[in-house]
Amino acid sequence: MAEQLLIKNAAQVVTPLGQTALKGAAMKEVRIYENTSILIEDGRIKAIGNDSSWETEVPVEQQIDATGKTVLPGFVDSHTHFVFGGYRADEFLWRMEGMTYMEIMERGGGINNTMKATRNASAEELIDHSLDILHKMLAFGITTVEGKSGYGMDHDTEIRQLEVMKELEKRQPVEIVRTFLGAHSIPPEYKGRNQEFLQFLVDEVMPEVKQQELAQFCDIFCEKGVFSIEESRKFLQQAKDMGFDLKIHADEIVTLGGAELGAELGCHSADHLLHASDEGIKALANSNTVATLLPTTAFCLKEPFAPARKMIDAGCAVALATDFNPGSGFTNSVPLMIALGVIYMGMTAEEAITALTLNGAAAVGRADQIGSIEEGKQADIVILQYPSYKFLPYHTGVNIVETVIKKGKVVHQ
Ligand code: NIG
Ligand code: FE
Repeated sequence: MAEQLLIKNAAQVVTPLGQTALKGAAMKEVRIYENTSILIEDGRIKAIGNDSSWETEVPVEQQIDATGKTVLPGFVDSHTHFVFGGYRADEFLWRMEGMTYMEIMERGGGINNTMKATRNASAEELIDHSLDILHKMLAFGITTVEGKSGYGMDHDTEIRQLEVMKELEKRQPVEIVRTFLGAHSIPPEYKGRNQEFLQFLVDEVMPEVKQQELAQFCDIFCEKGVFSIEESRKFLQQAKDMGFDLKIHADEIVTLGGAELGAELGCHSADHLLHASDEGIKALANSNTVATLLPTTAFCLKEPFAPARKMIDAGCAVALATDFNPGSGFTNSVPLMIALGVIYMGMTAEEAITALTLNGAAAVGRADQIGSIEEGKQADIVILQYPSYKFLPYHTGVNIVETVIKKGKVVHQ
């Protein structure tokens, strides 16, 4: 017997359509169904419509009455660093007093601070801590999350972070896309020897990551004072040759050309982009690389927001993600991210929805499976408490997610 779930009579079902990222003007073309039901079978969306026979076919206990509520695809948080040890509350307050993120990093704080705590954390400690974080993500409607390593920057800890993510997928419902970010910073033992460090990752860590299928993606922090454009190009090309899909932390603090490099290498996404140049924006618009914007990080760093409006108008595919991490932005608040996107970055509510669903799915290479409510796609669904998607930005910074469904099962209510 097929396992069924019926979401009946939703005031609105709102979804982007397709199996690839939506670019430019297409981002706001979401499909809106009114007073509509969704039939789910064996974890997949079977049909969307108003067939009254569904209510007699599906057992009553497998029906959810969505009268007066809005149904959306599950949110895809396509850029996070959620597995880590320790906290950096002091650094947050130093920043509020005027110290910059890079100054803190140059003094041995920042990423290398979390590195020490993560190297000292056992797999079980990391798992316990991450379970709590994933639980909170689910309550915000996140059904798929991308998670990066990068707080080990040595062989054992990098592998441990990725193994922990693999194990976490078995222990809770949020689907986890794993990214190897060994090239997150330069660890103290390689100070001043960037090229040797990158070669160590390529020779001694990445073959094992690949062989044990611990990560689909490889990422690098391409930034002034971290890894240069040349270093990033060489490293990502080597990763690509090994069979990794690519991502890049690009143009976060200064304009370096990371956006252009992301497009040149065919990265699935170039992320941050606060300081992407006009040429970089053009390069992204002419590519299949998703421009992944992380407004809560800009907010926490008191930096200008990435130019979302300009990017969409130029024809880019924009995704929104939280960048949840212990330093530059300790928040996975989806409502805050939506508020910043709509109020400060000039995105429409419809564009924000596409950015958080289908375009996020494309950024993690899964737009053929998730990111929209369409027949055949995985039934990852969020039900909002209110009758219109417009309540998402309107109820500013408030979580209005009521029910979360993952692969056809209710996983949060
Ligand atoms: O995406 N910019 C580099 N990496 C993270 C921050 C990591 C940290 O501060 O721990 C980011 O913002
Ligand atoms: Fe990041």
